Amino acid sequence: MKKVGFVGWRGMVGSVLLDRMKEENNFSNINAFFFTTSQVGMKAPETINGEKILLDAHSIKELSEMDIILSCQGGDYTEKVYAELKKYNWDGHWIDAASTLRMADESIIVLDPINEPSINTALKNGFRTWVGGNCTVSLMLLAIHGLIKEGAIEWVSSMTYQAASGAGAKNMKELLVQMGQLHSSTESELKKINFNILDVDKMVLNKMRSSDFSKENFQVPLAGNLIPWIDQDLGKGLSREEWKGQFETNKILMNNYEKINVDGLCTRIGSMRSHSQALTIKLKKHYELTEINDLIKSANNWVKLVPNEKEASINNLTPAAVSGGLDIAIGRVRRLALDDNIISAFTVGDQLLWGAAEPLRRMLQILIK
Ligand code: HSE
Repeated sequence: MKKVGFVGWRGMVGSVLLDRMKEENNFSNINAFFFTTSQVGMKAPETINGEKILLDAHSIKELSEMDIILSCQGGDYTEKVYAELKKYNWDGHWIDAASTLRMADESIIVLDPINEPSINTALKNGFRTWVGGNCTVSLMLLAIHGLIKEGAIEWVSSMTYQAASGAGAKNMKELLVQMGQLHSSTESELKKINFNILDVDKMVLNKMRSSDFSKENFQVPLAGNLIPWIDQDLGKGLSREEWKGQFETNKILMNNYEKINVDGLCTRIGSMRSHSQALTIKLKKHYELTEINDLIKSANNWVKLVPNEKEASINNLTPAAVSGGLDIAIGRVRRLALDDNIISAFTVGDQLLWGAAEPLRRMLQILIK
């Protein structure tokens, strides 16, 4: 059995990963070792064939005994430890949730329903570094997989509505704290039978703008607000999240599909763990709407086409409907009045599952097999 070392398994993505692995009985055919940066020697989580004691995530010697290391520990850890392991001539497989190594020549961005042929070729060619993609990129590609396979797309503009989870666990908590603070600040007025909504609105604004409003993590209010910028400012008006949309997409598609131009604006909104995206898609030629729908819904096992109708959309095409599952919902598909070959679509997917943990879990299974 392969020795698989897990680092960062206690964090949000790591926990989702472990839960999925338990659900799929994935611990039955590996020898699992759990590493820690702070609790060496303490009890490891219980798994079939799992080592009972936590090992040191900074011990290159202990790490180098693994056939496979799966890290959800974050970019700083990857930067330090991956380089040290390479210097140590470790030749195991490194699977990573962090973005650090995504664009490196030695790594493949893994999203096997889309790029399994690239993964297999890389395996044959001795690649050993497998990195999960940016969540919006992975979720978008799974949603429009059918149009990509068909080679139907000239360009895509993706306008995102990204959940708090993409920023981390502390941010999810902060969103809820902010919601609570806004509610508390208006409670007395809301209790009145003849409450004045304009007074309530003023109270909300005052609270949001006050110095005691919790915004340590987001820096600004997210509850009752939105944030039209995600990740670093790369200059020329471009955010790093938007850059990822352009470049990671085509690294994943490389060698198997035609290049597509992708660009758009990335925005944080107050949903918990599902990212949504409004897509404007320029098709290369005229397709009937029925053909477009057929291509989309038959592309993979997870994409679920929601009819472009009000009831279906408000019930099934939302973070509340999709979160916690592997379905990638896509709907609001219609021809836009702008151009005969331009269509709209709206897609929602769980940022922690297909957006983070699931491609890593599946890559591990590919390596085990
Ligand atoms: N960068 C993403 C976000 C999450 O901030 O929502 C990770 O892919």
